[in-house]
Amino acid sequence: MTADSPVQEAPQNRFEIMREHVRVCQRCPLSCTRTNAVFGAGNLNARLLFVGEAPGAQEDLVGLPFVGRSGQLLTKVLEARGISREEIFISNIVKCRPPENRDPKPAEVQACTPYLFSQIDMINPSIVCALGRHAAAALLERKVLITQEHGKWMNYRGRTFMIALHPSAALRMPKFKELFEYDIAILASKYHEMQSQAG
Ligand code: URA
Ligand code: SF4
Repeated sequence: MTADSPVQEAPQNRFEIMREHVRVCQRCPLSCTRTNAVFGAGNLNARLLFVGEAPGAQEDLVGLPFVGRSGQLLTKVLEARGISREEIFISNIVKCRPPENRDPKPAEVQACTPYLFSQIDMINPSIVCALGRHAAAALLERKVLITQEHGKWMNYRGRTFMIALHPSAALRMPKFKELFEYDIAILASKYHEMQSQAG
């Protein structure tokens, strides 16, 4: 680097700067009702990145993604397939909890997704998995028929992409739990295959 070249923030610093932006963000009305913004958590070198919908009550209190009942199921099903929370990264479409867990509004999604897109760019995962219809629709920018589209390999901005059922659906119905476990099994086998190829 020459003396007069612009100073480039190291990736980790850029990440920490964005974390601080999100912590105090007021780009949409969800900032008025949140307790804590939930930036996302996990490994900055993750090869596999999950995108959920929005923080729930527990996540809002703790400031971490997927720590409530859905998160515990996700963690358990991943661990059963040899994937730990420490090696992956998990984020959400919107970083602040919608009141009463209502669906995020389009304007809130639009205000917040630039953070997610930057996270994906910085972490640069090989595989992205959208959890549930809302996350998938926000990423693909189209309507998603989850019952038809889950568990299939797709492409998202040049990355290997899959839609999985949301673990909260799995908690509601045994049939969805089976399908959710099936999605994670397919995802895990591709992930392990890619890891072994990468050495
Ligand atoms: N559900 C989500 O979609 N995201 C979370 O962080 C927790 C539950
Ligand atoms: Fe900002 Fe996103 Fe929170 Fe809205 S949901 S206030 S855009 S961090």
